[in-house]
Amino acid sequence: MTPEQAVLKQEFSVTPRKEAFTAWCRDELFTAELIEAADLMQQALDLHLVSIYEKLGFAELLSEPRSPGDVVDALGYVESADRTIEAVLERLASRFEFVVRSSDGATTQFSHAGEIPASPASLEDIHAAMAKLGDEYVASLEFLAFGEDKFEYALRDDPDFLDKILSGRESEYQELWFRATNTDPLQNVHGIMGAVAIDMLFDRGRILEIGGGTGNGIRNLFKHLAAKSELDRVESFVFTDISQKFIMTTRREIRTDYPDVDTEWRFADLNVALADQKIEPASVDLIYAVNAAHVAKDIVAFLESCRSTLKPGGRVLFAERIRLTPRDMAPRELALNLSIYHRTAAIRNDDYRPMHCYLSPENWVRVFELAGFSNAEVWPDIGALADAFPNQYAAIVTATA
Ligand SMILES: C[S@@+](CC[C@H](N)C(=O)[O-])C[C@H]1O[C@@H](n2cnc3c(N)ncnc32)[C@H](O)[C@@H]1O
Repeated sequence: MTPEQAVLKQEFSVTPRKEAFTAWCRDELFTAELIEAADLMQQALDLHLVSIYEKLGFAELLSEPRSPGDVVDALGYVESADRTIEAVLERLASRFEFVVRSSDGATTQFSHAGEIPASPASLEDIHAAMAKLGDEYVASLEFLAFGEDKFEYALRDDPDFLDKILSGRESEYQELWFRATNTDPLQNVHGIMGAVAIDMLFDRGRILEIGGGTGNGIRNLFKHLAAKSELDRVESFVFTDISQKFIMTTRREIRTDYPDVDTEWRFADLNVALADQKIEPASVDLIYAVNAAHVAKDIVAFLESCRSTLKPGGRVLFAERIRLTPRDMAPRELALNLSIYHRTAAIRNDDYRPMHCYLSPENWVRVFELAGFSNAEVWPDIGALADAFPNQYAAIVTATA
């Protein structure tokens, strides 16, 4: 168990429901395949990053200490690409000796220091091992390979390129994005966890989903409740996103599969107060999001807006990727950090958001508190699972208004 995981174990109290959820994760959800796939993704990320490092001549660029901003200037990338480069170099420096990090508090610099070690496995080996787990697992690797392939193009030639894909404005890559968010079991697991957590924590009422996109959240929730003949617990469901295309496609699917559920389909931007988007205050029992809440620029303001949209005692529940180590880049960020919204969508704060994008469990508890929520919880019990699943990354973060 790492020191971070030991702290988590002490800090987060374990309620009986959380314990039951943790047991379900351990015994049913986190299969041997999923655990192995998560490990292969970590290996694949390192191989891709080393490959980018070599292709772009980082050894030369970092022959003297340079900040991510200096590197971006030297490569002629858009300014905000410093976040992308920072994440790459932080990860390499924390795992290898050939990149050295130095910081005087105000500026962090990186320098090249020695031979790049040969990797025991190649990307082809990893691909073959992943394919043995099932074709759907290969979707996760495809997304990483795409990230390496488009790295320069997205950061220099067409800075809006990835944002167009992530918001459904680029039809050529729609299939890739759908596979990366829905087919990939490492991603689908977020929606499955969300469905089970809602089943455990929510009785019935009106649900608002934020950033519902290609439908991982609503699809898994309806499937789960339908299997128990309990779909009537969803008295109404308001599905929102900023992509009209995603809204239309998901609407078509859900209306065909669940024609009797009362659903509403609307544009909503989580960076704008929900009350200013015709979503009535105190009108919703549950606000749900799968891998979308971390998009918020000002996470506390977003949560405050959620709190006023909820009826008293209502709940927010987000299925989120979490960072166990504050500066560790997650595999998917190789591609996601090529989008402007991912790398800039965070007002950083030392107290609760030291990095862009994903938050740690402690960060989530803190932002819920700052936004006036009570009973913040992070499920499952990450400390308890640490030995069995060292690369565990998926959590439910929830609190009541
Ligand atoms: C990682 S995807 C998750 C989608 C979906 N929940 C799923 O898991 O399949 C993030 C979603 O957030 C949406 N999004 C991005 N910026 C947003 C914003 N400012 N307000 C609301 N949704 C946003 C994107 O269109 C995308 O559908």
